[in-house]
Amino acid sequence: MAYRFKTELRHSDVTPEAAFFNRRQLLAGAGGALLAGGVPGLAAAQSGGNKYSTDAEPNSFEEITTYNNFYEFGTSKEDPAQNAGAMKVSPWTVKVGGLVDKPGDYALDDLLAGLDVEERIYRFRCVEAWSMVIPWNGVQLSKLLDKVGVQSGAKYVAFETAVLPDVMNGVKFPVPDWPYVEGLRLDEAMHPLTLMATGIYGKPMPNQNGAPMRLVVPWKYGFKSIKSIVRISLVKDEPPATWNQTNPREYGFYSNVNPNVSHPRWSQATERKIGGGFFAKRQKTEMFNGYGEEVAQLYQGMDLKKFF
Ligand code: MTE
Repeated sequence: MAYRFKTELRHSDVTPEAAFFNRRQLLAGAGGALLAGGVPGLAAAQSGGNKYSTDAEPNSFEEITTYNNFYEFGTSKEDPAQNAGAMKVSPWTVKVGGLVDKPGDYALDDLLAGLDVEERIYRFRCVEAWSMVIPWNGVQLSKLLDKVGVQSGAKYVAFETAVLPDVMNGVKFPVPDWPYVEGLRLDEAMHPLTLMATGIYGKPMPNQNGAPMRLVVPWKYGFKSIKSIVRISLVKDEPPATWNQTNPREYGFYSNVNPNVSHPRWSQATERKIGGGFFAKRQKTEMFNGYGEEVAQLYQGMDLKKFF
């Protein structure tokens, strides 16, 4: 990211499509697995294909779980899959605080109890100009926030990732400053597209993807989608965000996907869909990653070149 960007060529790029299992079949099967209790401790109802989902072809489970960014576990794309297995994700406690009616240290299952687990198939666009389509399972963040009771002074939501030096080799390096933190404006957090994801393809969230619970904000660059969350705070002022703090010239607080605003070191006009094969054509990047109809009104009157 801020200090490291290389042209990636991974085994998934040169492996023939046919080597991957039938994605649609897996998708169908995975729904069943979830109904059969795929998410441990969650008895919540599962709604299937959903009005917020794209009908674009999802990436394979292998692609989604072997090509990752999770710097706590190393900086190369294979590191998280290799190293994150050592993280213990149960029991898991989330501290909810700040301007909320019901602050506290919540066991994850208690925090999610009573909330619908939905399947949302979202486009996912990394600031490094690659993309995937990912069938997430999770709860709408607005429902979680309603449950803990947002107070009227709250304007932003701040999130924090666990720091587990015993298993996270990456946190021994000083850059970025740990813990990984992120934030959203309250109206962004309350938008129905914003998800607290707890699974992929109906299986519990793999550790490398941010188990047991990570944020997903599909119209923003992937680094806003903070993983393995241990703290959620409702606050008055714009909270710090890791890459924005590390290099504010290159990474804005908003980080809405925008093909018209280049990263200082590369264009954001096109993207490479992971799994398309090495010779696949790059595809055009869409404003707000294709979610403009739903979210453009959140930014009315804002200069998106200034608030990038
Ligand atoms: N969250 C934490 N805690 N640490 C990270 O390094 N990387 C971000 C985001 N969330 C990151 C993180 C970036 S740059 C991206 S693109 C996505 O996670 C990648 O999510 P994925 O590996 O599930 O595709």
